[in-house]
Amino acid sequence: MTQTLSVIDHPLIKHKVTLLRSKETSTGEFRRILREVSLLLAYDATRDLELSETEIETPLERGRFPILEGKKLCFVSILRAGNGLLDGMLDLVPSARVGFIGLYRDHKTLEAVEYYFKVPELLPERLVIVVDPMLATGHSAIAAITRLKKAGAKRIKFVCLVAAPEGAKAMADAHPDVPILAAALDRQLNEKGYILPGLGDAGDRIYGTA
Ligand code: URA
Repeated sequence: MTQTLSVIDHPLIKHKVTLLRSKETSTGEFRRILREVSLLLAYDATRDLELSETEIETPLERGRFPILEGKKLCFVSILRAGNGLLDGMLDLVPSARVGFIGLYRDHKTLEAVEYYFKVPELLPERLVIVVDPMLATGHSAIAAITRLKKAGAKRIKFVCLVAAPEGAKAMADAHPDVPILAAALDRQLNEKGYILPGLGDAGDRIYGTA
């Protein structure tokens, strides 16, 4: 198996993920902390963005300085839990383009079924960062990335909060060209496809719909 998963090793992220895991954490707190973690994830996911130079004048002198090069990057949120990661990422990159993919998980087969797809134009020229908090079986992420490739995306990264080994392996098998960035790698899936120890249903935790 190609190793495509990187787990961020940072004390602030570890601390915040522990707070997210706790069932005592309220909906409001969960959203706030997730926003902070996603900003940190976006910081790491964008570290290889290309730069060019622009000439500007500081109050003291003229000079050439780095500036982001090329087409704006694009975040693609897998609805609905992906939106919980999106907000913090947009705090960091406010001018990014945003796409949405609606997939629901068939509770019997655990397969992903598409019900919505809307992405910005010029996808082939953009870095596309797909976001979904939980990489569990990997079915949704794999389906979303297959669909984005069909729509022309060429450079794709996948960013999640918690990955299960099963999902990371399935993703690496299906899309060995797509790096995965996670805040934590957990132990395993349970028989219902939930990540253990995990944090529960991310969508329910974000929106208080348990
Ligand atoms: N989706 C979730 O929200 N949580 C899990 O543990 C697995 C999939």
